[in-house]
This record gives sequence, C-alpha cells and structure tokens, in this order.
Amino acid sequence: MKRISILLTALILSASASWGGETFTLPTLPPREEFGNIIMNRVSASSGVLPVVFSHWKHRTKYTCRVCHTELDFNLKANTTEIRAVEIRKGKFCGACHNGKKAFKLNGNCDKCHSGDIAYNSEKFIEFAKKGFPQTSIGDGINWVEALKAGLITPQNFIKTESGDIPFDKNLVLEAAWGGIAPAVFSHKTHMGWLECSNCHPDVFNIKKKTTAHFSMEYILKGKFCGACHLRVAFPMDDCKRCHPAISRN
Ligand code: HEC
Ligand code: HEC
Ligand code: HEC
Ligand code: HEC
Ligand code: HEC
Ligand code: HEC
Repeated sequence: MKRISILLTALILSASASWGGETFTLPTLPPREEFGNIIMNRVSASSGVLPVVFSHWKHRTKYTCRVCHTELDFNLKANTTEIRAVEIRKGKFCGACHNGKKAFKLNGNCDKCHSGDIAYNSEKFIEFAKKGFPQTSIGDGINWVEALKAGLITPQNFIKTESGDIPFDKNLVLEAAWGGIAPAVFSHKTHMGWLECSNCHPDVFNIKKKTTAHFSMEYILKGKFCGACHLRVAFPMDDCKRCHPAISRN
C-alpha cells in the first residue's frame, strides 16, 4: 500500500496537486466571470461573422442542463454540435428560445450572440453574483447546488417533453484504485436536479458501479467521466474536498 503524503503548497503555487508520488496538472482556470463561457466558432469566422459567445451562468439560472443537453441536442463538447444559422431560424438549437418569445429574437440582435468577446457578459455576471448567492472559492464562485435548494433559482427542467426518468437517489462511494485515498462520493440525487440518466449513461459511465474502465484522476483531468462537466461548467477539479469529503486538504 502506498503511503500518501499531501503537499499542501502545490495548489497555492501552481495549478497542480501532488499526492504521494503523483502530480496532477490542473487546467488553468479563467476569471470567475468567464467560467463556463464558450466561444462557438465552427462556422462563424469562415462565414464572415464574429464568433458566438455563450454563457452557461446566464442560462443555467433559467434552465437545467437537460433542457439543452438532452432536449435540444447540444453536445457536451464545445464546437462539436452542427449548428447552422438556417437551423436556428427554423427554431432549432438557440432558436428554440431566441425567437422573441422566451428570449430576444434573432433579427436586430446579431451582435448579442456574435460578439466575439469571451468577456461579453462579465459586468452582468458581477451584478448577478452580488445577489447573495451561496459561495464557493473556485470556478464561478457560486454554489449552484445550495442556490437550487434554497430556491434562489428555479430553472425549468423541460421545454418540450417532461423527462420520463424514474427517480433514482443512490449515493455511490467510489473507492479509488489506490489504498489510503479518501473515496469520491457521488450523489445521484444532487445530479438529478440538473441532468437526466442519458446525460451520463451509457456514454460517460457504465450503469454498474466500478465497471467503468480507466476511471481515474488522469482520465478525469483529460475531460473524461466526472471531467466531462467538472472542468468547464460544474465546479472545477481544484475543489478536491467536494468530491473526496474525507480528504485532509482543500
Ligand atoms: C441554454 C442551453 C444550455 C444549458 C441550459 C446548458 N448548456 Fe452546456 N452547452 C450549451 C451549448 C450551446 C454548448 C456548446 C455546444 C457546442 O458548441 O457544440 C454547451 C457546452 C457544454 C460543455 C462543453 C464545454 C467545453 O468547453 O467543451 C459542458 C461541459 C456543458 N455544456 C455542461 C453543462 C452543464 C453541466 C449544464 C447545467 C449546469 C449545462 N451545460 C447547461 C448549452 C447549454
Ligand atoms: C441567439 C444567438 C444568435 C443570434 C441572435 C444570431 N446568431 Fe448567427 N449563429 C448563432 C450560432 C450559435 C451560430 C453557429 C456558430 C458557430 O459554430 O460558428 C451562428 C452562425 C451564424 C452564421 C454562420 C453561417 C451559418 O450558416 O451558420 C452566420 C452568417 C450568422 N450566424 C449570421 C447571423 C446574423 C446576420 C444574425 C442577426 C440577424 C445572427 N446570426 C443572429 C447564434 C446566433
Ligand atoms: C432554453 C432556452 C434558450 C436557449 C436554447 C438559448 N438561450 Fe440564450 N437566453 C435565454 C434566455 C431566457 C435569456 C435571458 C433573457 C433575454 O436576454 O432575452 C438568454 C440570454 C442570452 C444572452 C444574453 C444577452 C445579453 O445581452 O445579456 C446571450 C448572448 C444568449 N442568450 C445567447 C445564446 C446562444 C448563442 C444560444 C445557442 C448556442 C442560446 N442563447 C440558447 C434562453 C435560451
Ligand atoms: C452525472 C452523471 C450521472 C447521472 C445523471 C446518472 N448517473 Fe447513474 N451512475 C453514475 C456514476 C458515476 C456511476 C458509477 C459508475 C462506476 O462506478 O463505474 C453510476 C452508477 C449507476 C448505477 C449502478 C449503481 C451500483 O451500485 O452499481 C445505476 C443502477 C445507475 N447509475 C442508474 C442511474 C439512473 C436510473 C439515472 C437517472 C435517474 C442515473 N443513473 C443518472 C453517474 C450518473
Ligand atoms: C468532480 C469530482 C472530483 C474532484 C473535484 C476530485 N476528484 Fe479525485 N477522484 C474522483 C473520482 C471519481 C476518482 C476515482 C474513484 C475510483 O477509482 O473509483 C478519483 C480518484 C482520485 C485519486 C486516486 C488515484 C487516481 O488517479 O484515481 C486521487 C489520489 C485523487 N482522486 C486526488 C484528488 C485531488 C488531489 C483532488 C483535488 C486537486 C481531486 N482528487 C479532486 C473525483 C474527483
Ligand atoms: C453531466 C455533467 C456531470 C458529470 C459527468 C458529473 N457531474 Fe457532478 N455536478 C454536475 C452539476 C451540474 C453539479 C451542480 C453544481 C455545479 O454546477 O457546480 C454537480 C455537483 C456535484 C457535487 C456537489 C454536490 C453538493 O451537494 O454540493 C459533487 C460532489 C459532484 N458533482 C461529484 C461528481 C463526481 C464524483 C462525478 C464523477 C463520478 C461527477 N460529479 C460527474 C454535473 C456533472
């Protein structure tokens, strides 16, 4: 069994964390007001318009992840969904809401989406974050789980069809492959406030505990498994204790 020594300074000095003999390189985080913002430029620049900037914080206050990532078919990876202006006009993708009913219409508002500026919504975020939300120290700094529980936001969970998911509340204690590591704890209940089964099963995780191959920090930090969300939109990997509650560091 490996003896684990924790280097407390690692996180403070650089975006890396050491455990025993292993060092994890954590991706550099953007400023909190840009966390979860995405530049969409699959076809924009090549068509002579500025890239589109999409802010997760702005939208997740009103809709759960499943609305966009299940009902509206946006992929969980930037610039992989085949979105075209003509489809949006027909009411697909952004056009499901940006039609002058749920949200501002397309005509006359090209610049709101095609801003080309990753910081486009920063001032609005700073105003928004002042409204007394429960805080975390990392990512966008907002504890979305507590915000949802406290009713400070009431995101809609569907816009077309109600989810047919059967409620499933199981907490999983995911013991690490190494001995001596505080296990990661995964709550289905917390995640079901935002997602549906098909956001994770079977593409991201097998549906039988401890059968997902290569389920380790190395792969998570490459964007697999928990890293599919916990690098860019859900709180980032730097927050060790939120996943490994018994870990003796922050
Ligand atoms: C209003 C729609 C909408 C909502 C709500 C939404 N997303 Fe997204 N998300 C998008 C779009 C659009 C993209 C970019 C897709 C593309 O470019 O192919 C995206 C991309 C992502 C990515 C990939 C990021 C990257 O840099 O590759 C992740 C991860 C993600 N979303 C997670 C979430 C999570 C978790 C939630 C809920 C907390 C959520 N999204 C809610 C629309 C949404
Ligand atoms: C609600 C957001 C939104 C608004 C408003 C919007 N667009 Fe777009 N548009 C997009 C997205 C998303 C894409 C795909 C971006 C990418 O991947 O490059 C896109 C793509 C485009 C493209 C690329 C060519 C193609 O076939 O897709 C053009 C040109 C374009 N939009 C023009 C416009 C014009 C002109 C307006 C104003 C009348 C406008 N858009 C308003 C979101 C928007
Ligand atoms: C499920 C509905 C929904 C979808 C899908 C959606 N939006 Fe929105 N969006 C909203 C709502 C609601 C607002 C806030 C109200 C408003 O500004 O009209 C908003 C606000 C915005 C804003 C903020 C504008 C500002 O000046 O504050 C931008 C930019 C934006 N959306 C871009 C996009 C882009 C780009 C897409 C597609 C990639 C998209 N949205 C998809 C509902 C949606
Ligand atoms: C955010 C991601 C996520 C969502 C959403 C999700 N799961 Fe899971 N689920 C997991 C993970 C992680 C595991 C453990 C996989 C492993 O250890 O290989 C798991 C394991 C399971 C297991 C096996 C439990 C055991 O003890 O063996 C079942 C059954 C399951 N999920 C059902 C569901 C159902 C039903 C839903 C929807 C109501 C759902 N899951 C939604 C991530 C998710
Ligand atoms: C989003 C949740 C999450 C966060 C945040 C997180 N971990 Fe993990 N970690 C996991 C999961 C899941 C596993 C794999 C458990 C298993 O093997 O079943 C794991 C495994 C590990 C292991 C075992 C070796 C390995 O590579 O699998 C170590 C060591 C570890 N984490 C350290 C850390 C440290 C240090 C941090 C903070 C920098 C951290 N973790 C943050 C979820 C997380
Ligand atoms: C499909 C996206 C997705 C995946 C995959 C995912 N999560 Fe999450 N997770 C979320 C979202 C969204 C939240 C809400 C908090 C936020 O956005 O910061 C969340 C919250 C959490 C919380 C906070 C619970 C609380 O009560 O505060 C923990 C812990 C967590 N996730 C662990 C994990 C672990 C461990 C894995 C991998 C086994 C994982 N998550 C995989 C999206 C995801």
